[in-house]
Amino acid sequence: MSSLTQTQVFNRTDTVIESWYWAMKSKELKKGQVKPLKFLGRDLAIYRGEDGVVRAVDAYCPHMGAHFAEGKVDGKGIRCFFHGWKFDEAGQLVDIPCRKAPGIHEQIKTHPVTEKYGTIWIYTGETPTHPVHFVPELEHVELDTSFGNTFEKGCHPNVVMVNAIDAHHFNTVHNLPVKLKFEIKPLGANMVQFNNLTHMPKSHWLLRFFSRFYKDALTYSMCYTSGSTGSVTVGPDFLHCHIIFALRPTPEGKAEGLTILLTPKRFGAFGRLVINPVVLFATKLVGNYFAKGDTEVFKSIRFSISRPIKEDESIIRFIQHLEKQKTSLWGFGTHLNPKATTEKANEAEELAEADALTADNRPRERHLRVLQHGEAS
Ligand code: FES
Ligand SMILES: [Fe+2]
Repeated sequence: MSSLTQTQVFNRTDTVIESWYWAMKSKELKKGQVKPLKFLGRDLAIYRGEDGVVRAVDAYCPHMGAHFAEGKVDGKGIRCFFHGWKFDEAGQLVDIPCRKAPGIHEQIKTHPVTEKYGTIWIYTGETPTHPVHFVPELEHVELDTSFGNTFEKGCHPNVVMVNAIDAHHFNTVHNLPVKLKFEIKPLGANMVQFNNLTHMPKSHWLLRFFSRFYKDALTYSMCYTSGSTGSVTVGPDFLHCHIIFALRPTPEGKAEGLTILLTPKRFGAFGRLVINPVVLFATKLVGNYFAKGDTEVFKSIRFSISRPIKEDESIIRFIQHLEKQKTSLWGFGTHLNPKATTEKANEAEELAEADALTADNRPRERHLRVLQHGEAS
């Protein structure tokens, strides 16, 4: 069972799965605005260009290290506050105000960014291999969204996430009168779904009453992307509540979370102005209950599944699923999956090439650091 306790990816504070992680709410970044962002231990500047597109770059200017969030948005690019160097949307240096033409080659690191569910997401790799998390039953459905709470938990996102499929804690902690049992469905390399198979018991008149609203099993479905963003679908057949818990790890081993509430778009004034706000409000209450759940245990837990039992199968499968994920060259530490080390070599090579292309040929400390010590940032 050492593969469960000595994991390479699951619950590691020194590694990051290559994936999309939430950055901030879209409405928090207006056109032409730039903000600093501490994102999985890395300092970024995130800005919305005058074309409305959000972009994220490493925070510090290669000239003398000013933070780009002190600067200003210029068209699709960003201009440093200090000496006014401008970098375009691809991160290329395109203007040095004291020169007619830059005369040197310089580039800042840009990161893939997208917006979904009124939220900005950043990808911790070069080229996204999978989409931002989605709820399978809503994949092709137009949605209305709103937000529940943001929150912080004192443990890694993976540990918070497995709680939702920890079948027998629902009886011990949450007093659920139903025993949950999950079917496990992999949905591509980064996604996995856990669907409850058990029915509402008929041992009490109230349960018998509720069971009329479930044709088949009691709906409780968890779906995960990269073990840090997960969605829950619960509720009777006539009204499913969908909640995304977007979590991102911090270098200190904590989880920063955002709760996103989803419901299919309903048309007509009544649907839009009455039904959906009520549904989203009810979903928010459910979401806050889940987000608050087990908070005390997350403050002190040292998660280690040293003595697994059969009933822990979902958690074991979750861990095994994460152990196969590709990790990212993110600079969270030095621990990397073997797959990622190839990338590291590639990046070092690319940087060496970039150096060779530089018109200004003095060796640059930043590049040397990467080449010599393999530092990621
Ligand atoms: S520090 Fe950015 S332009 Fe000089
Ligand atoms: Fe719980």
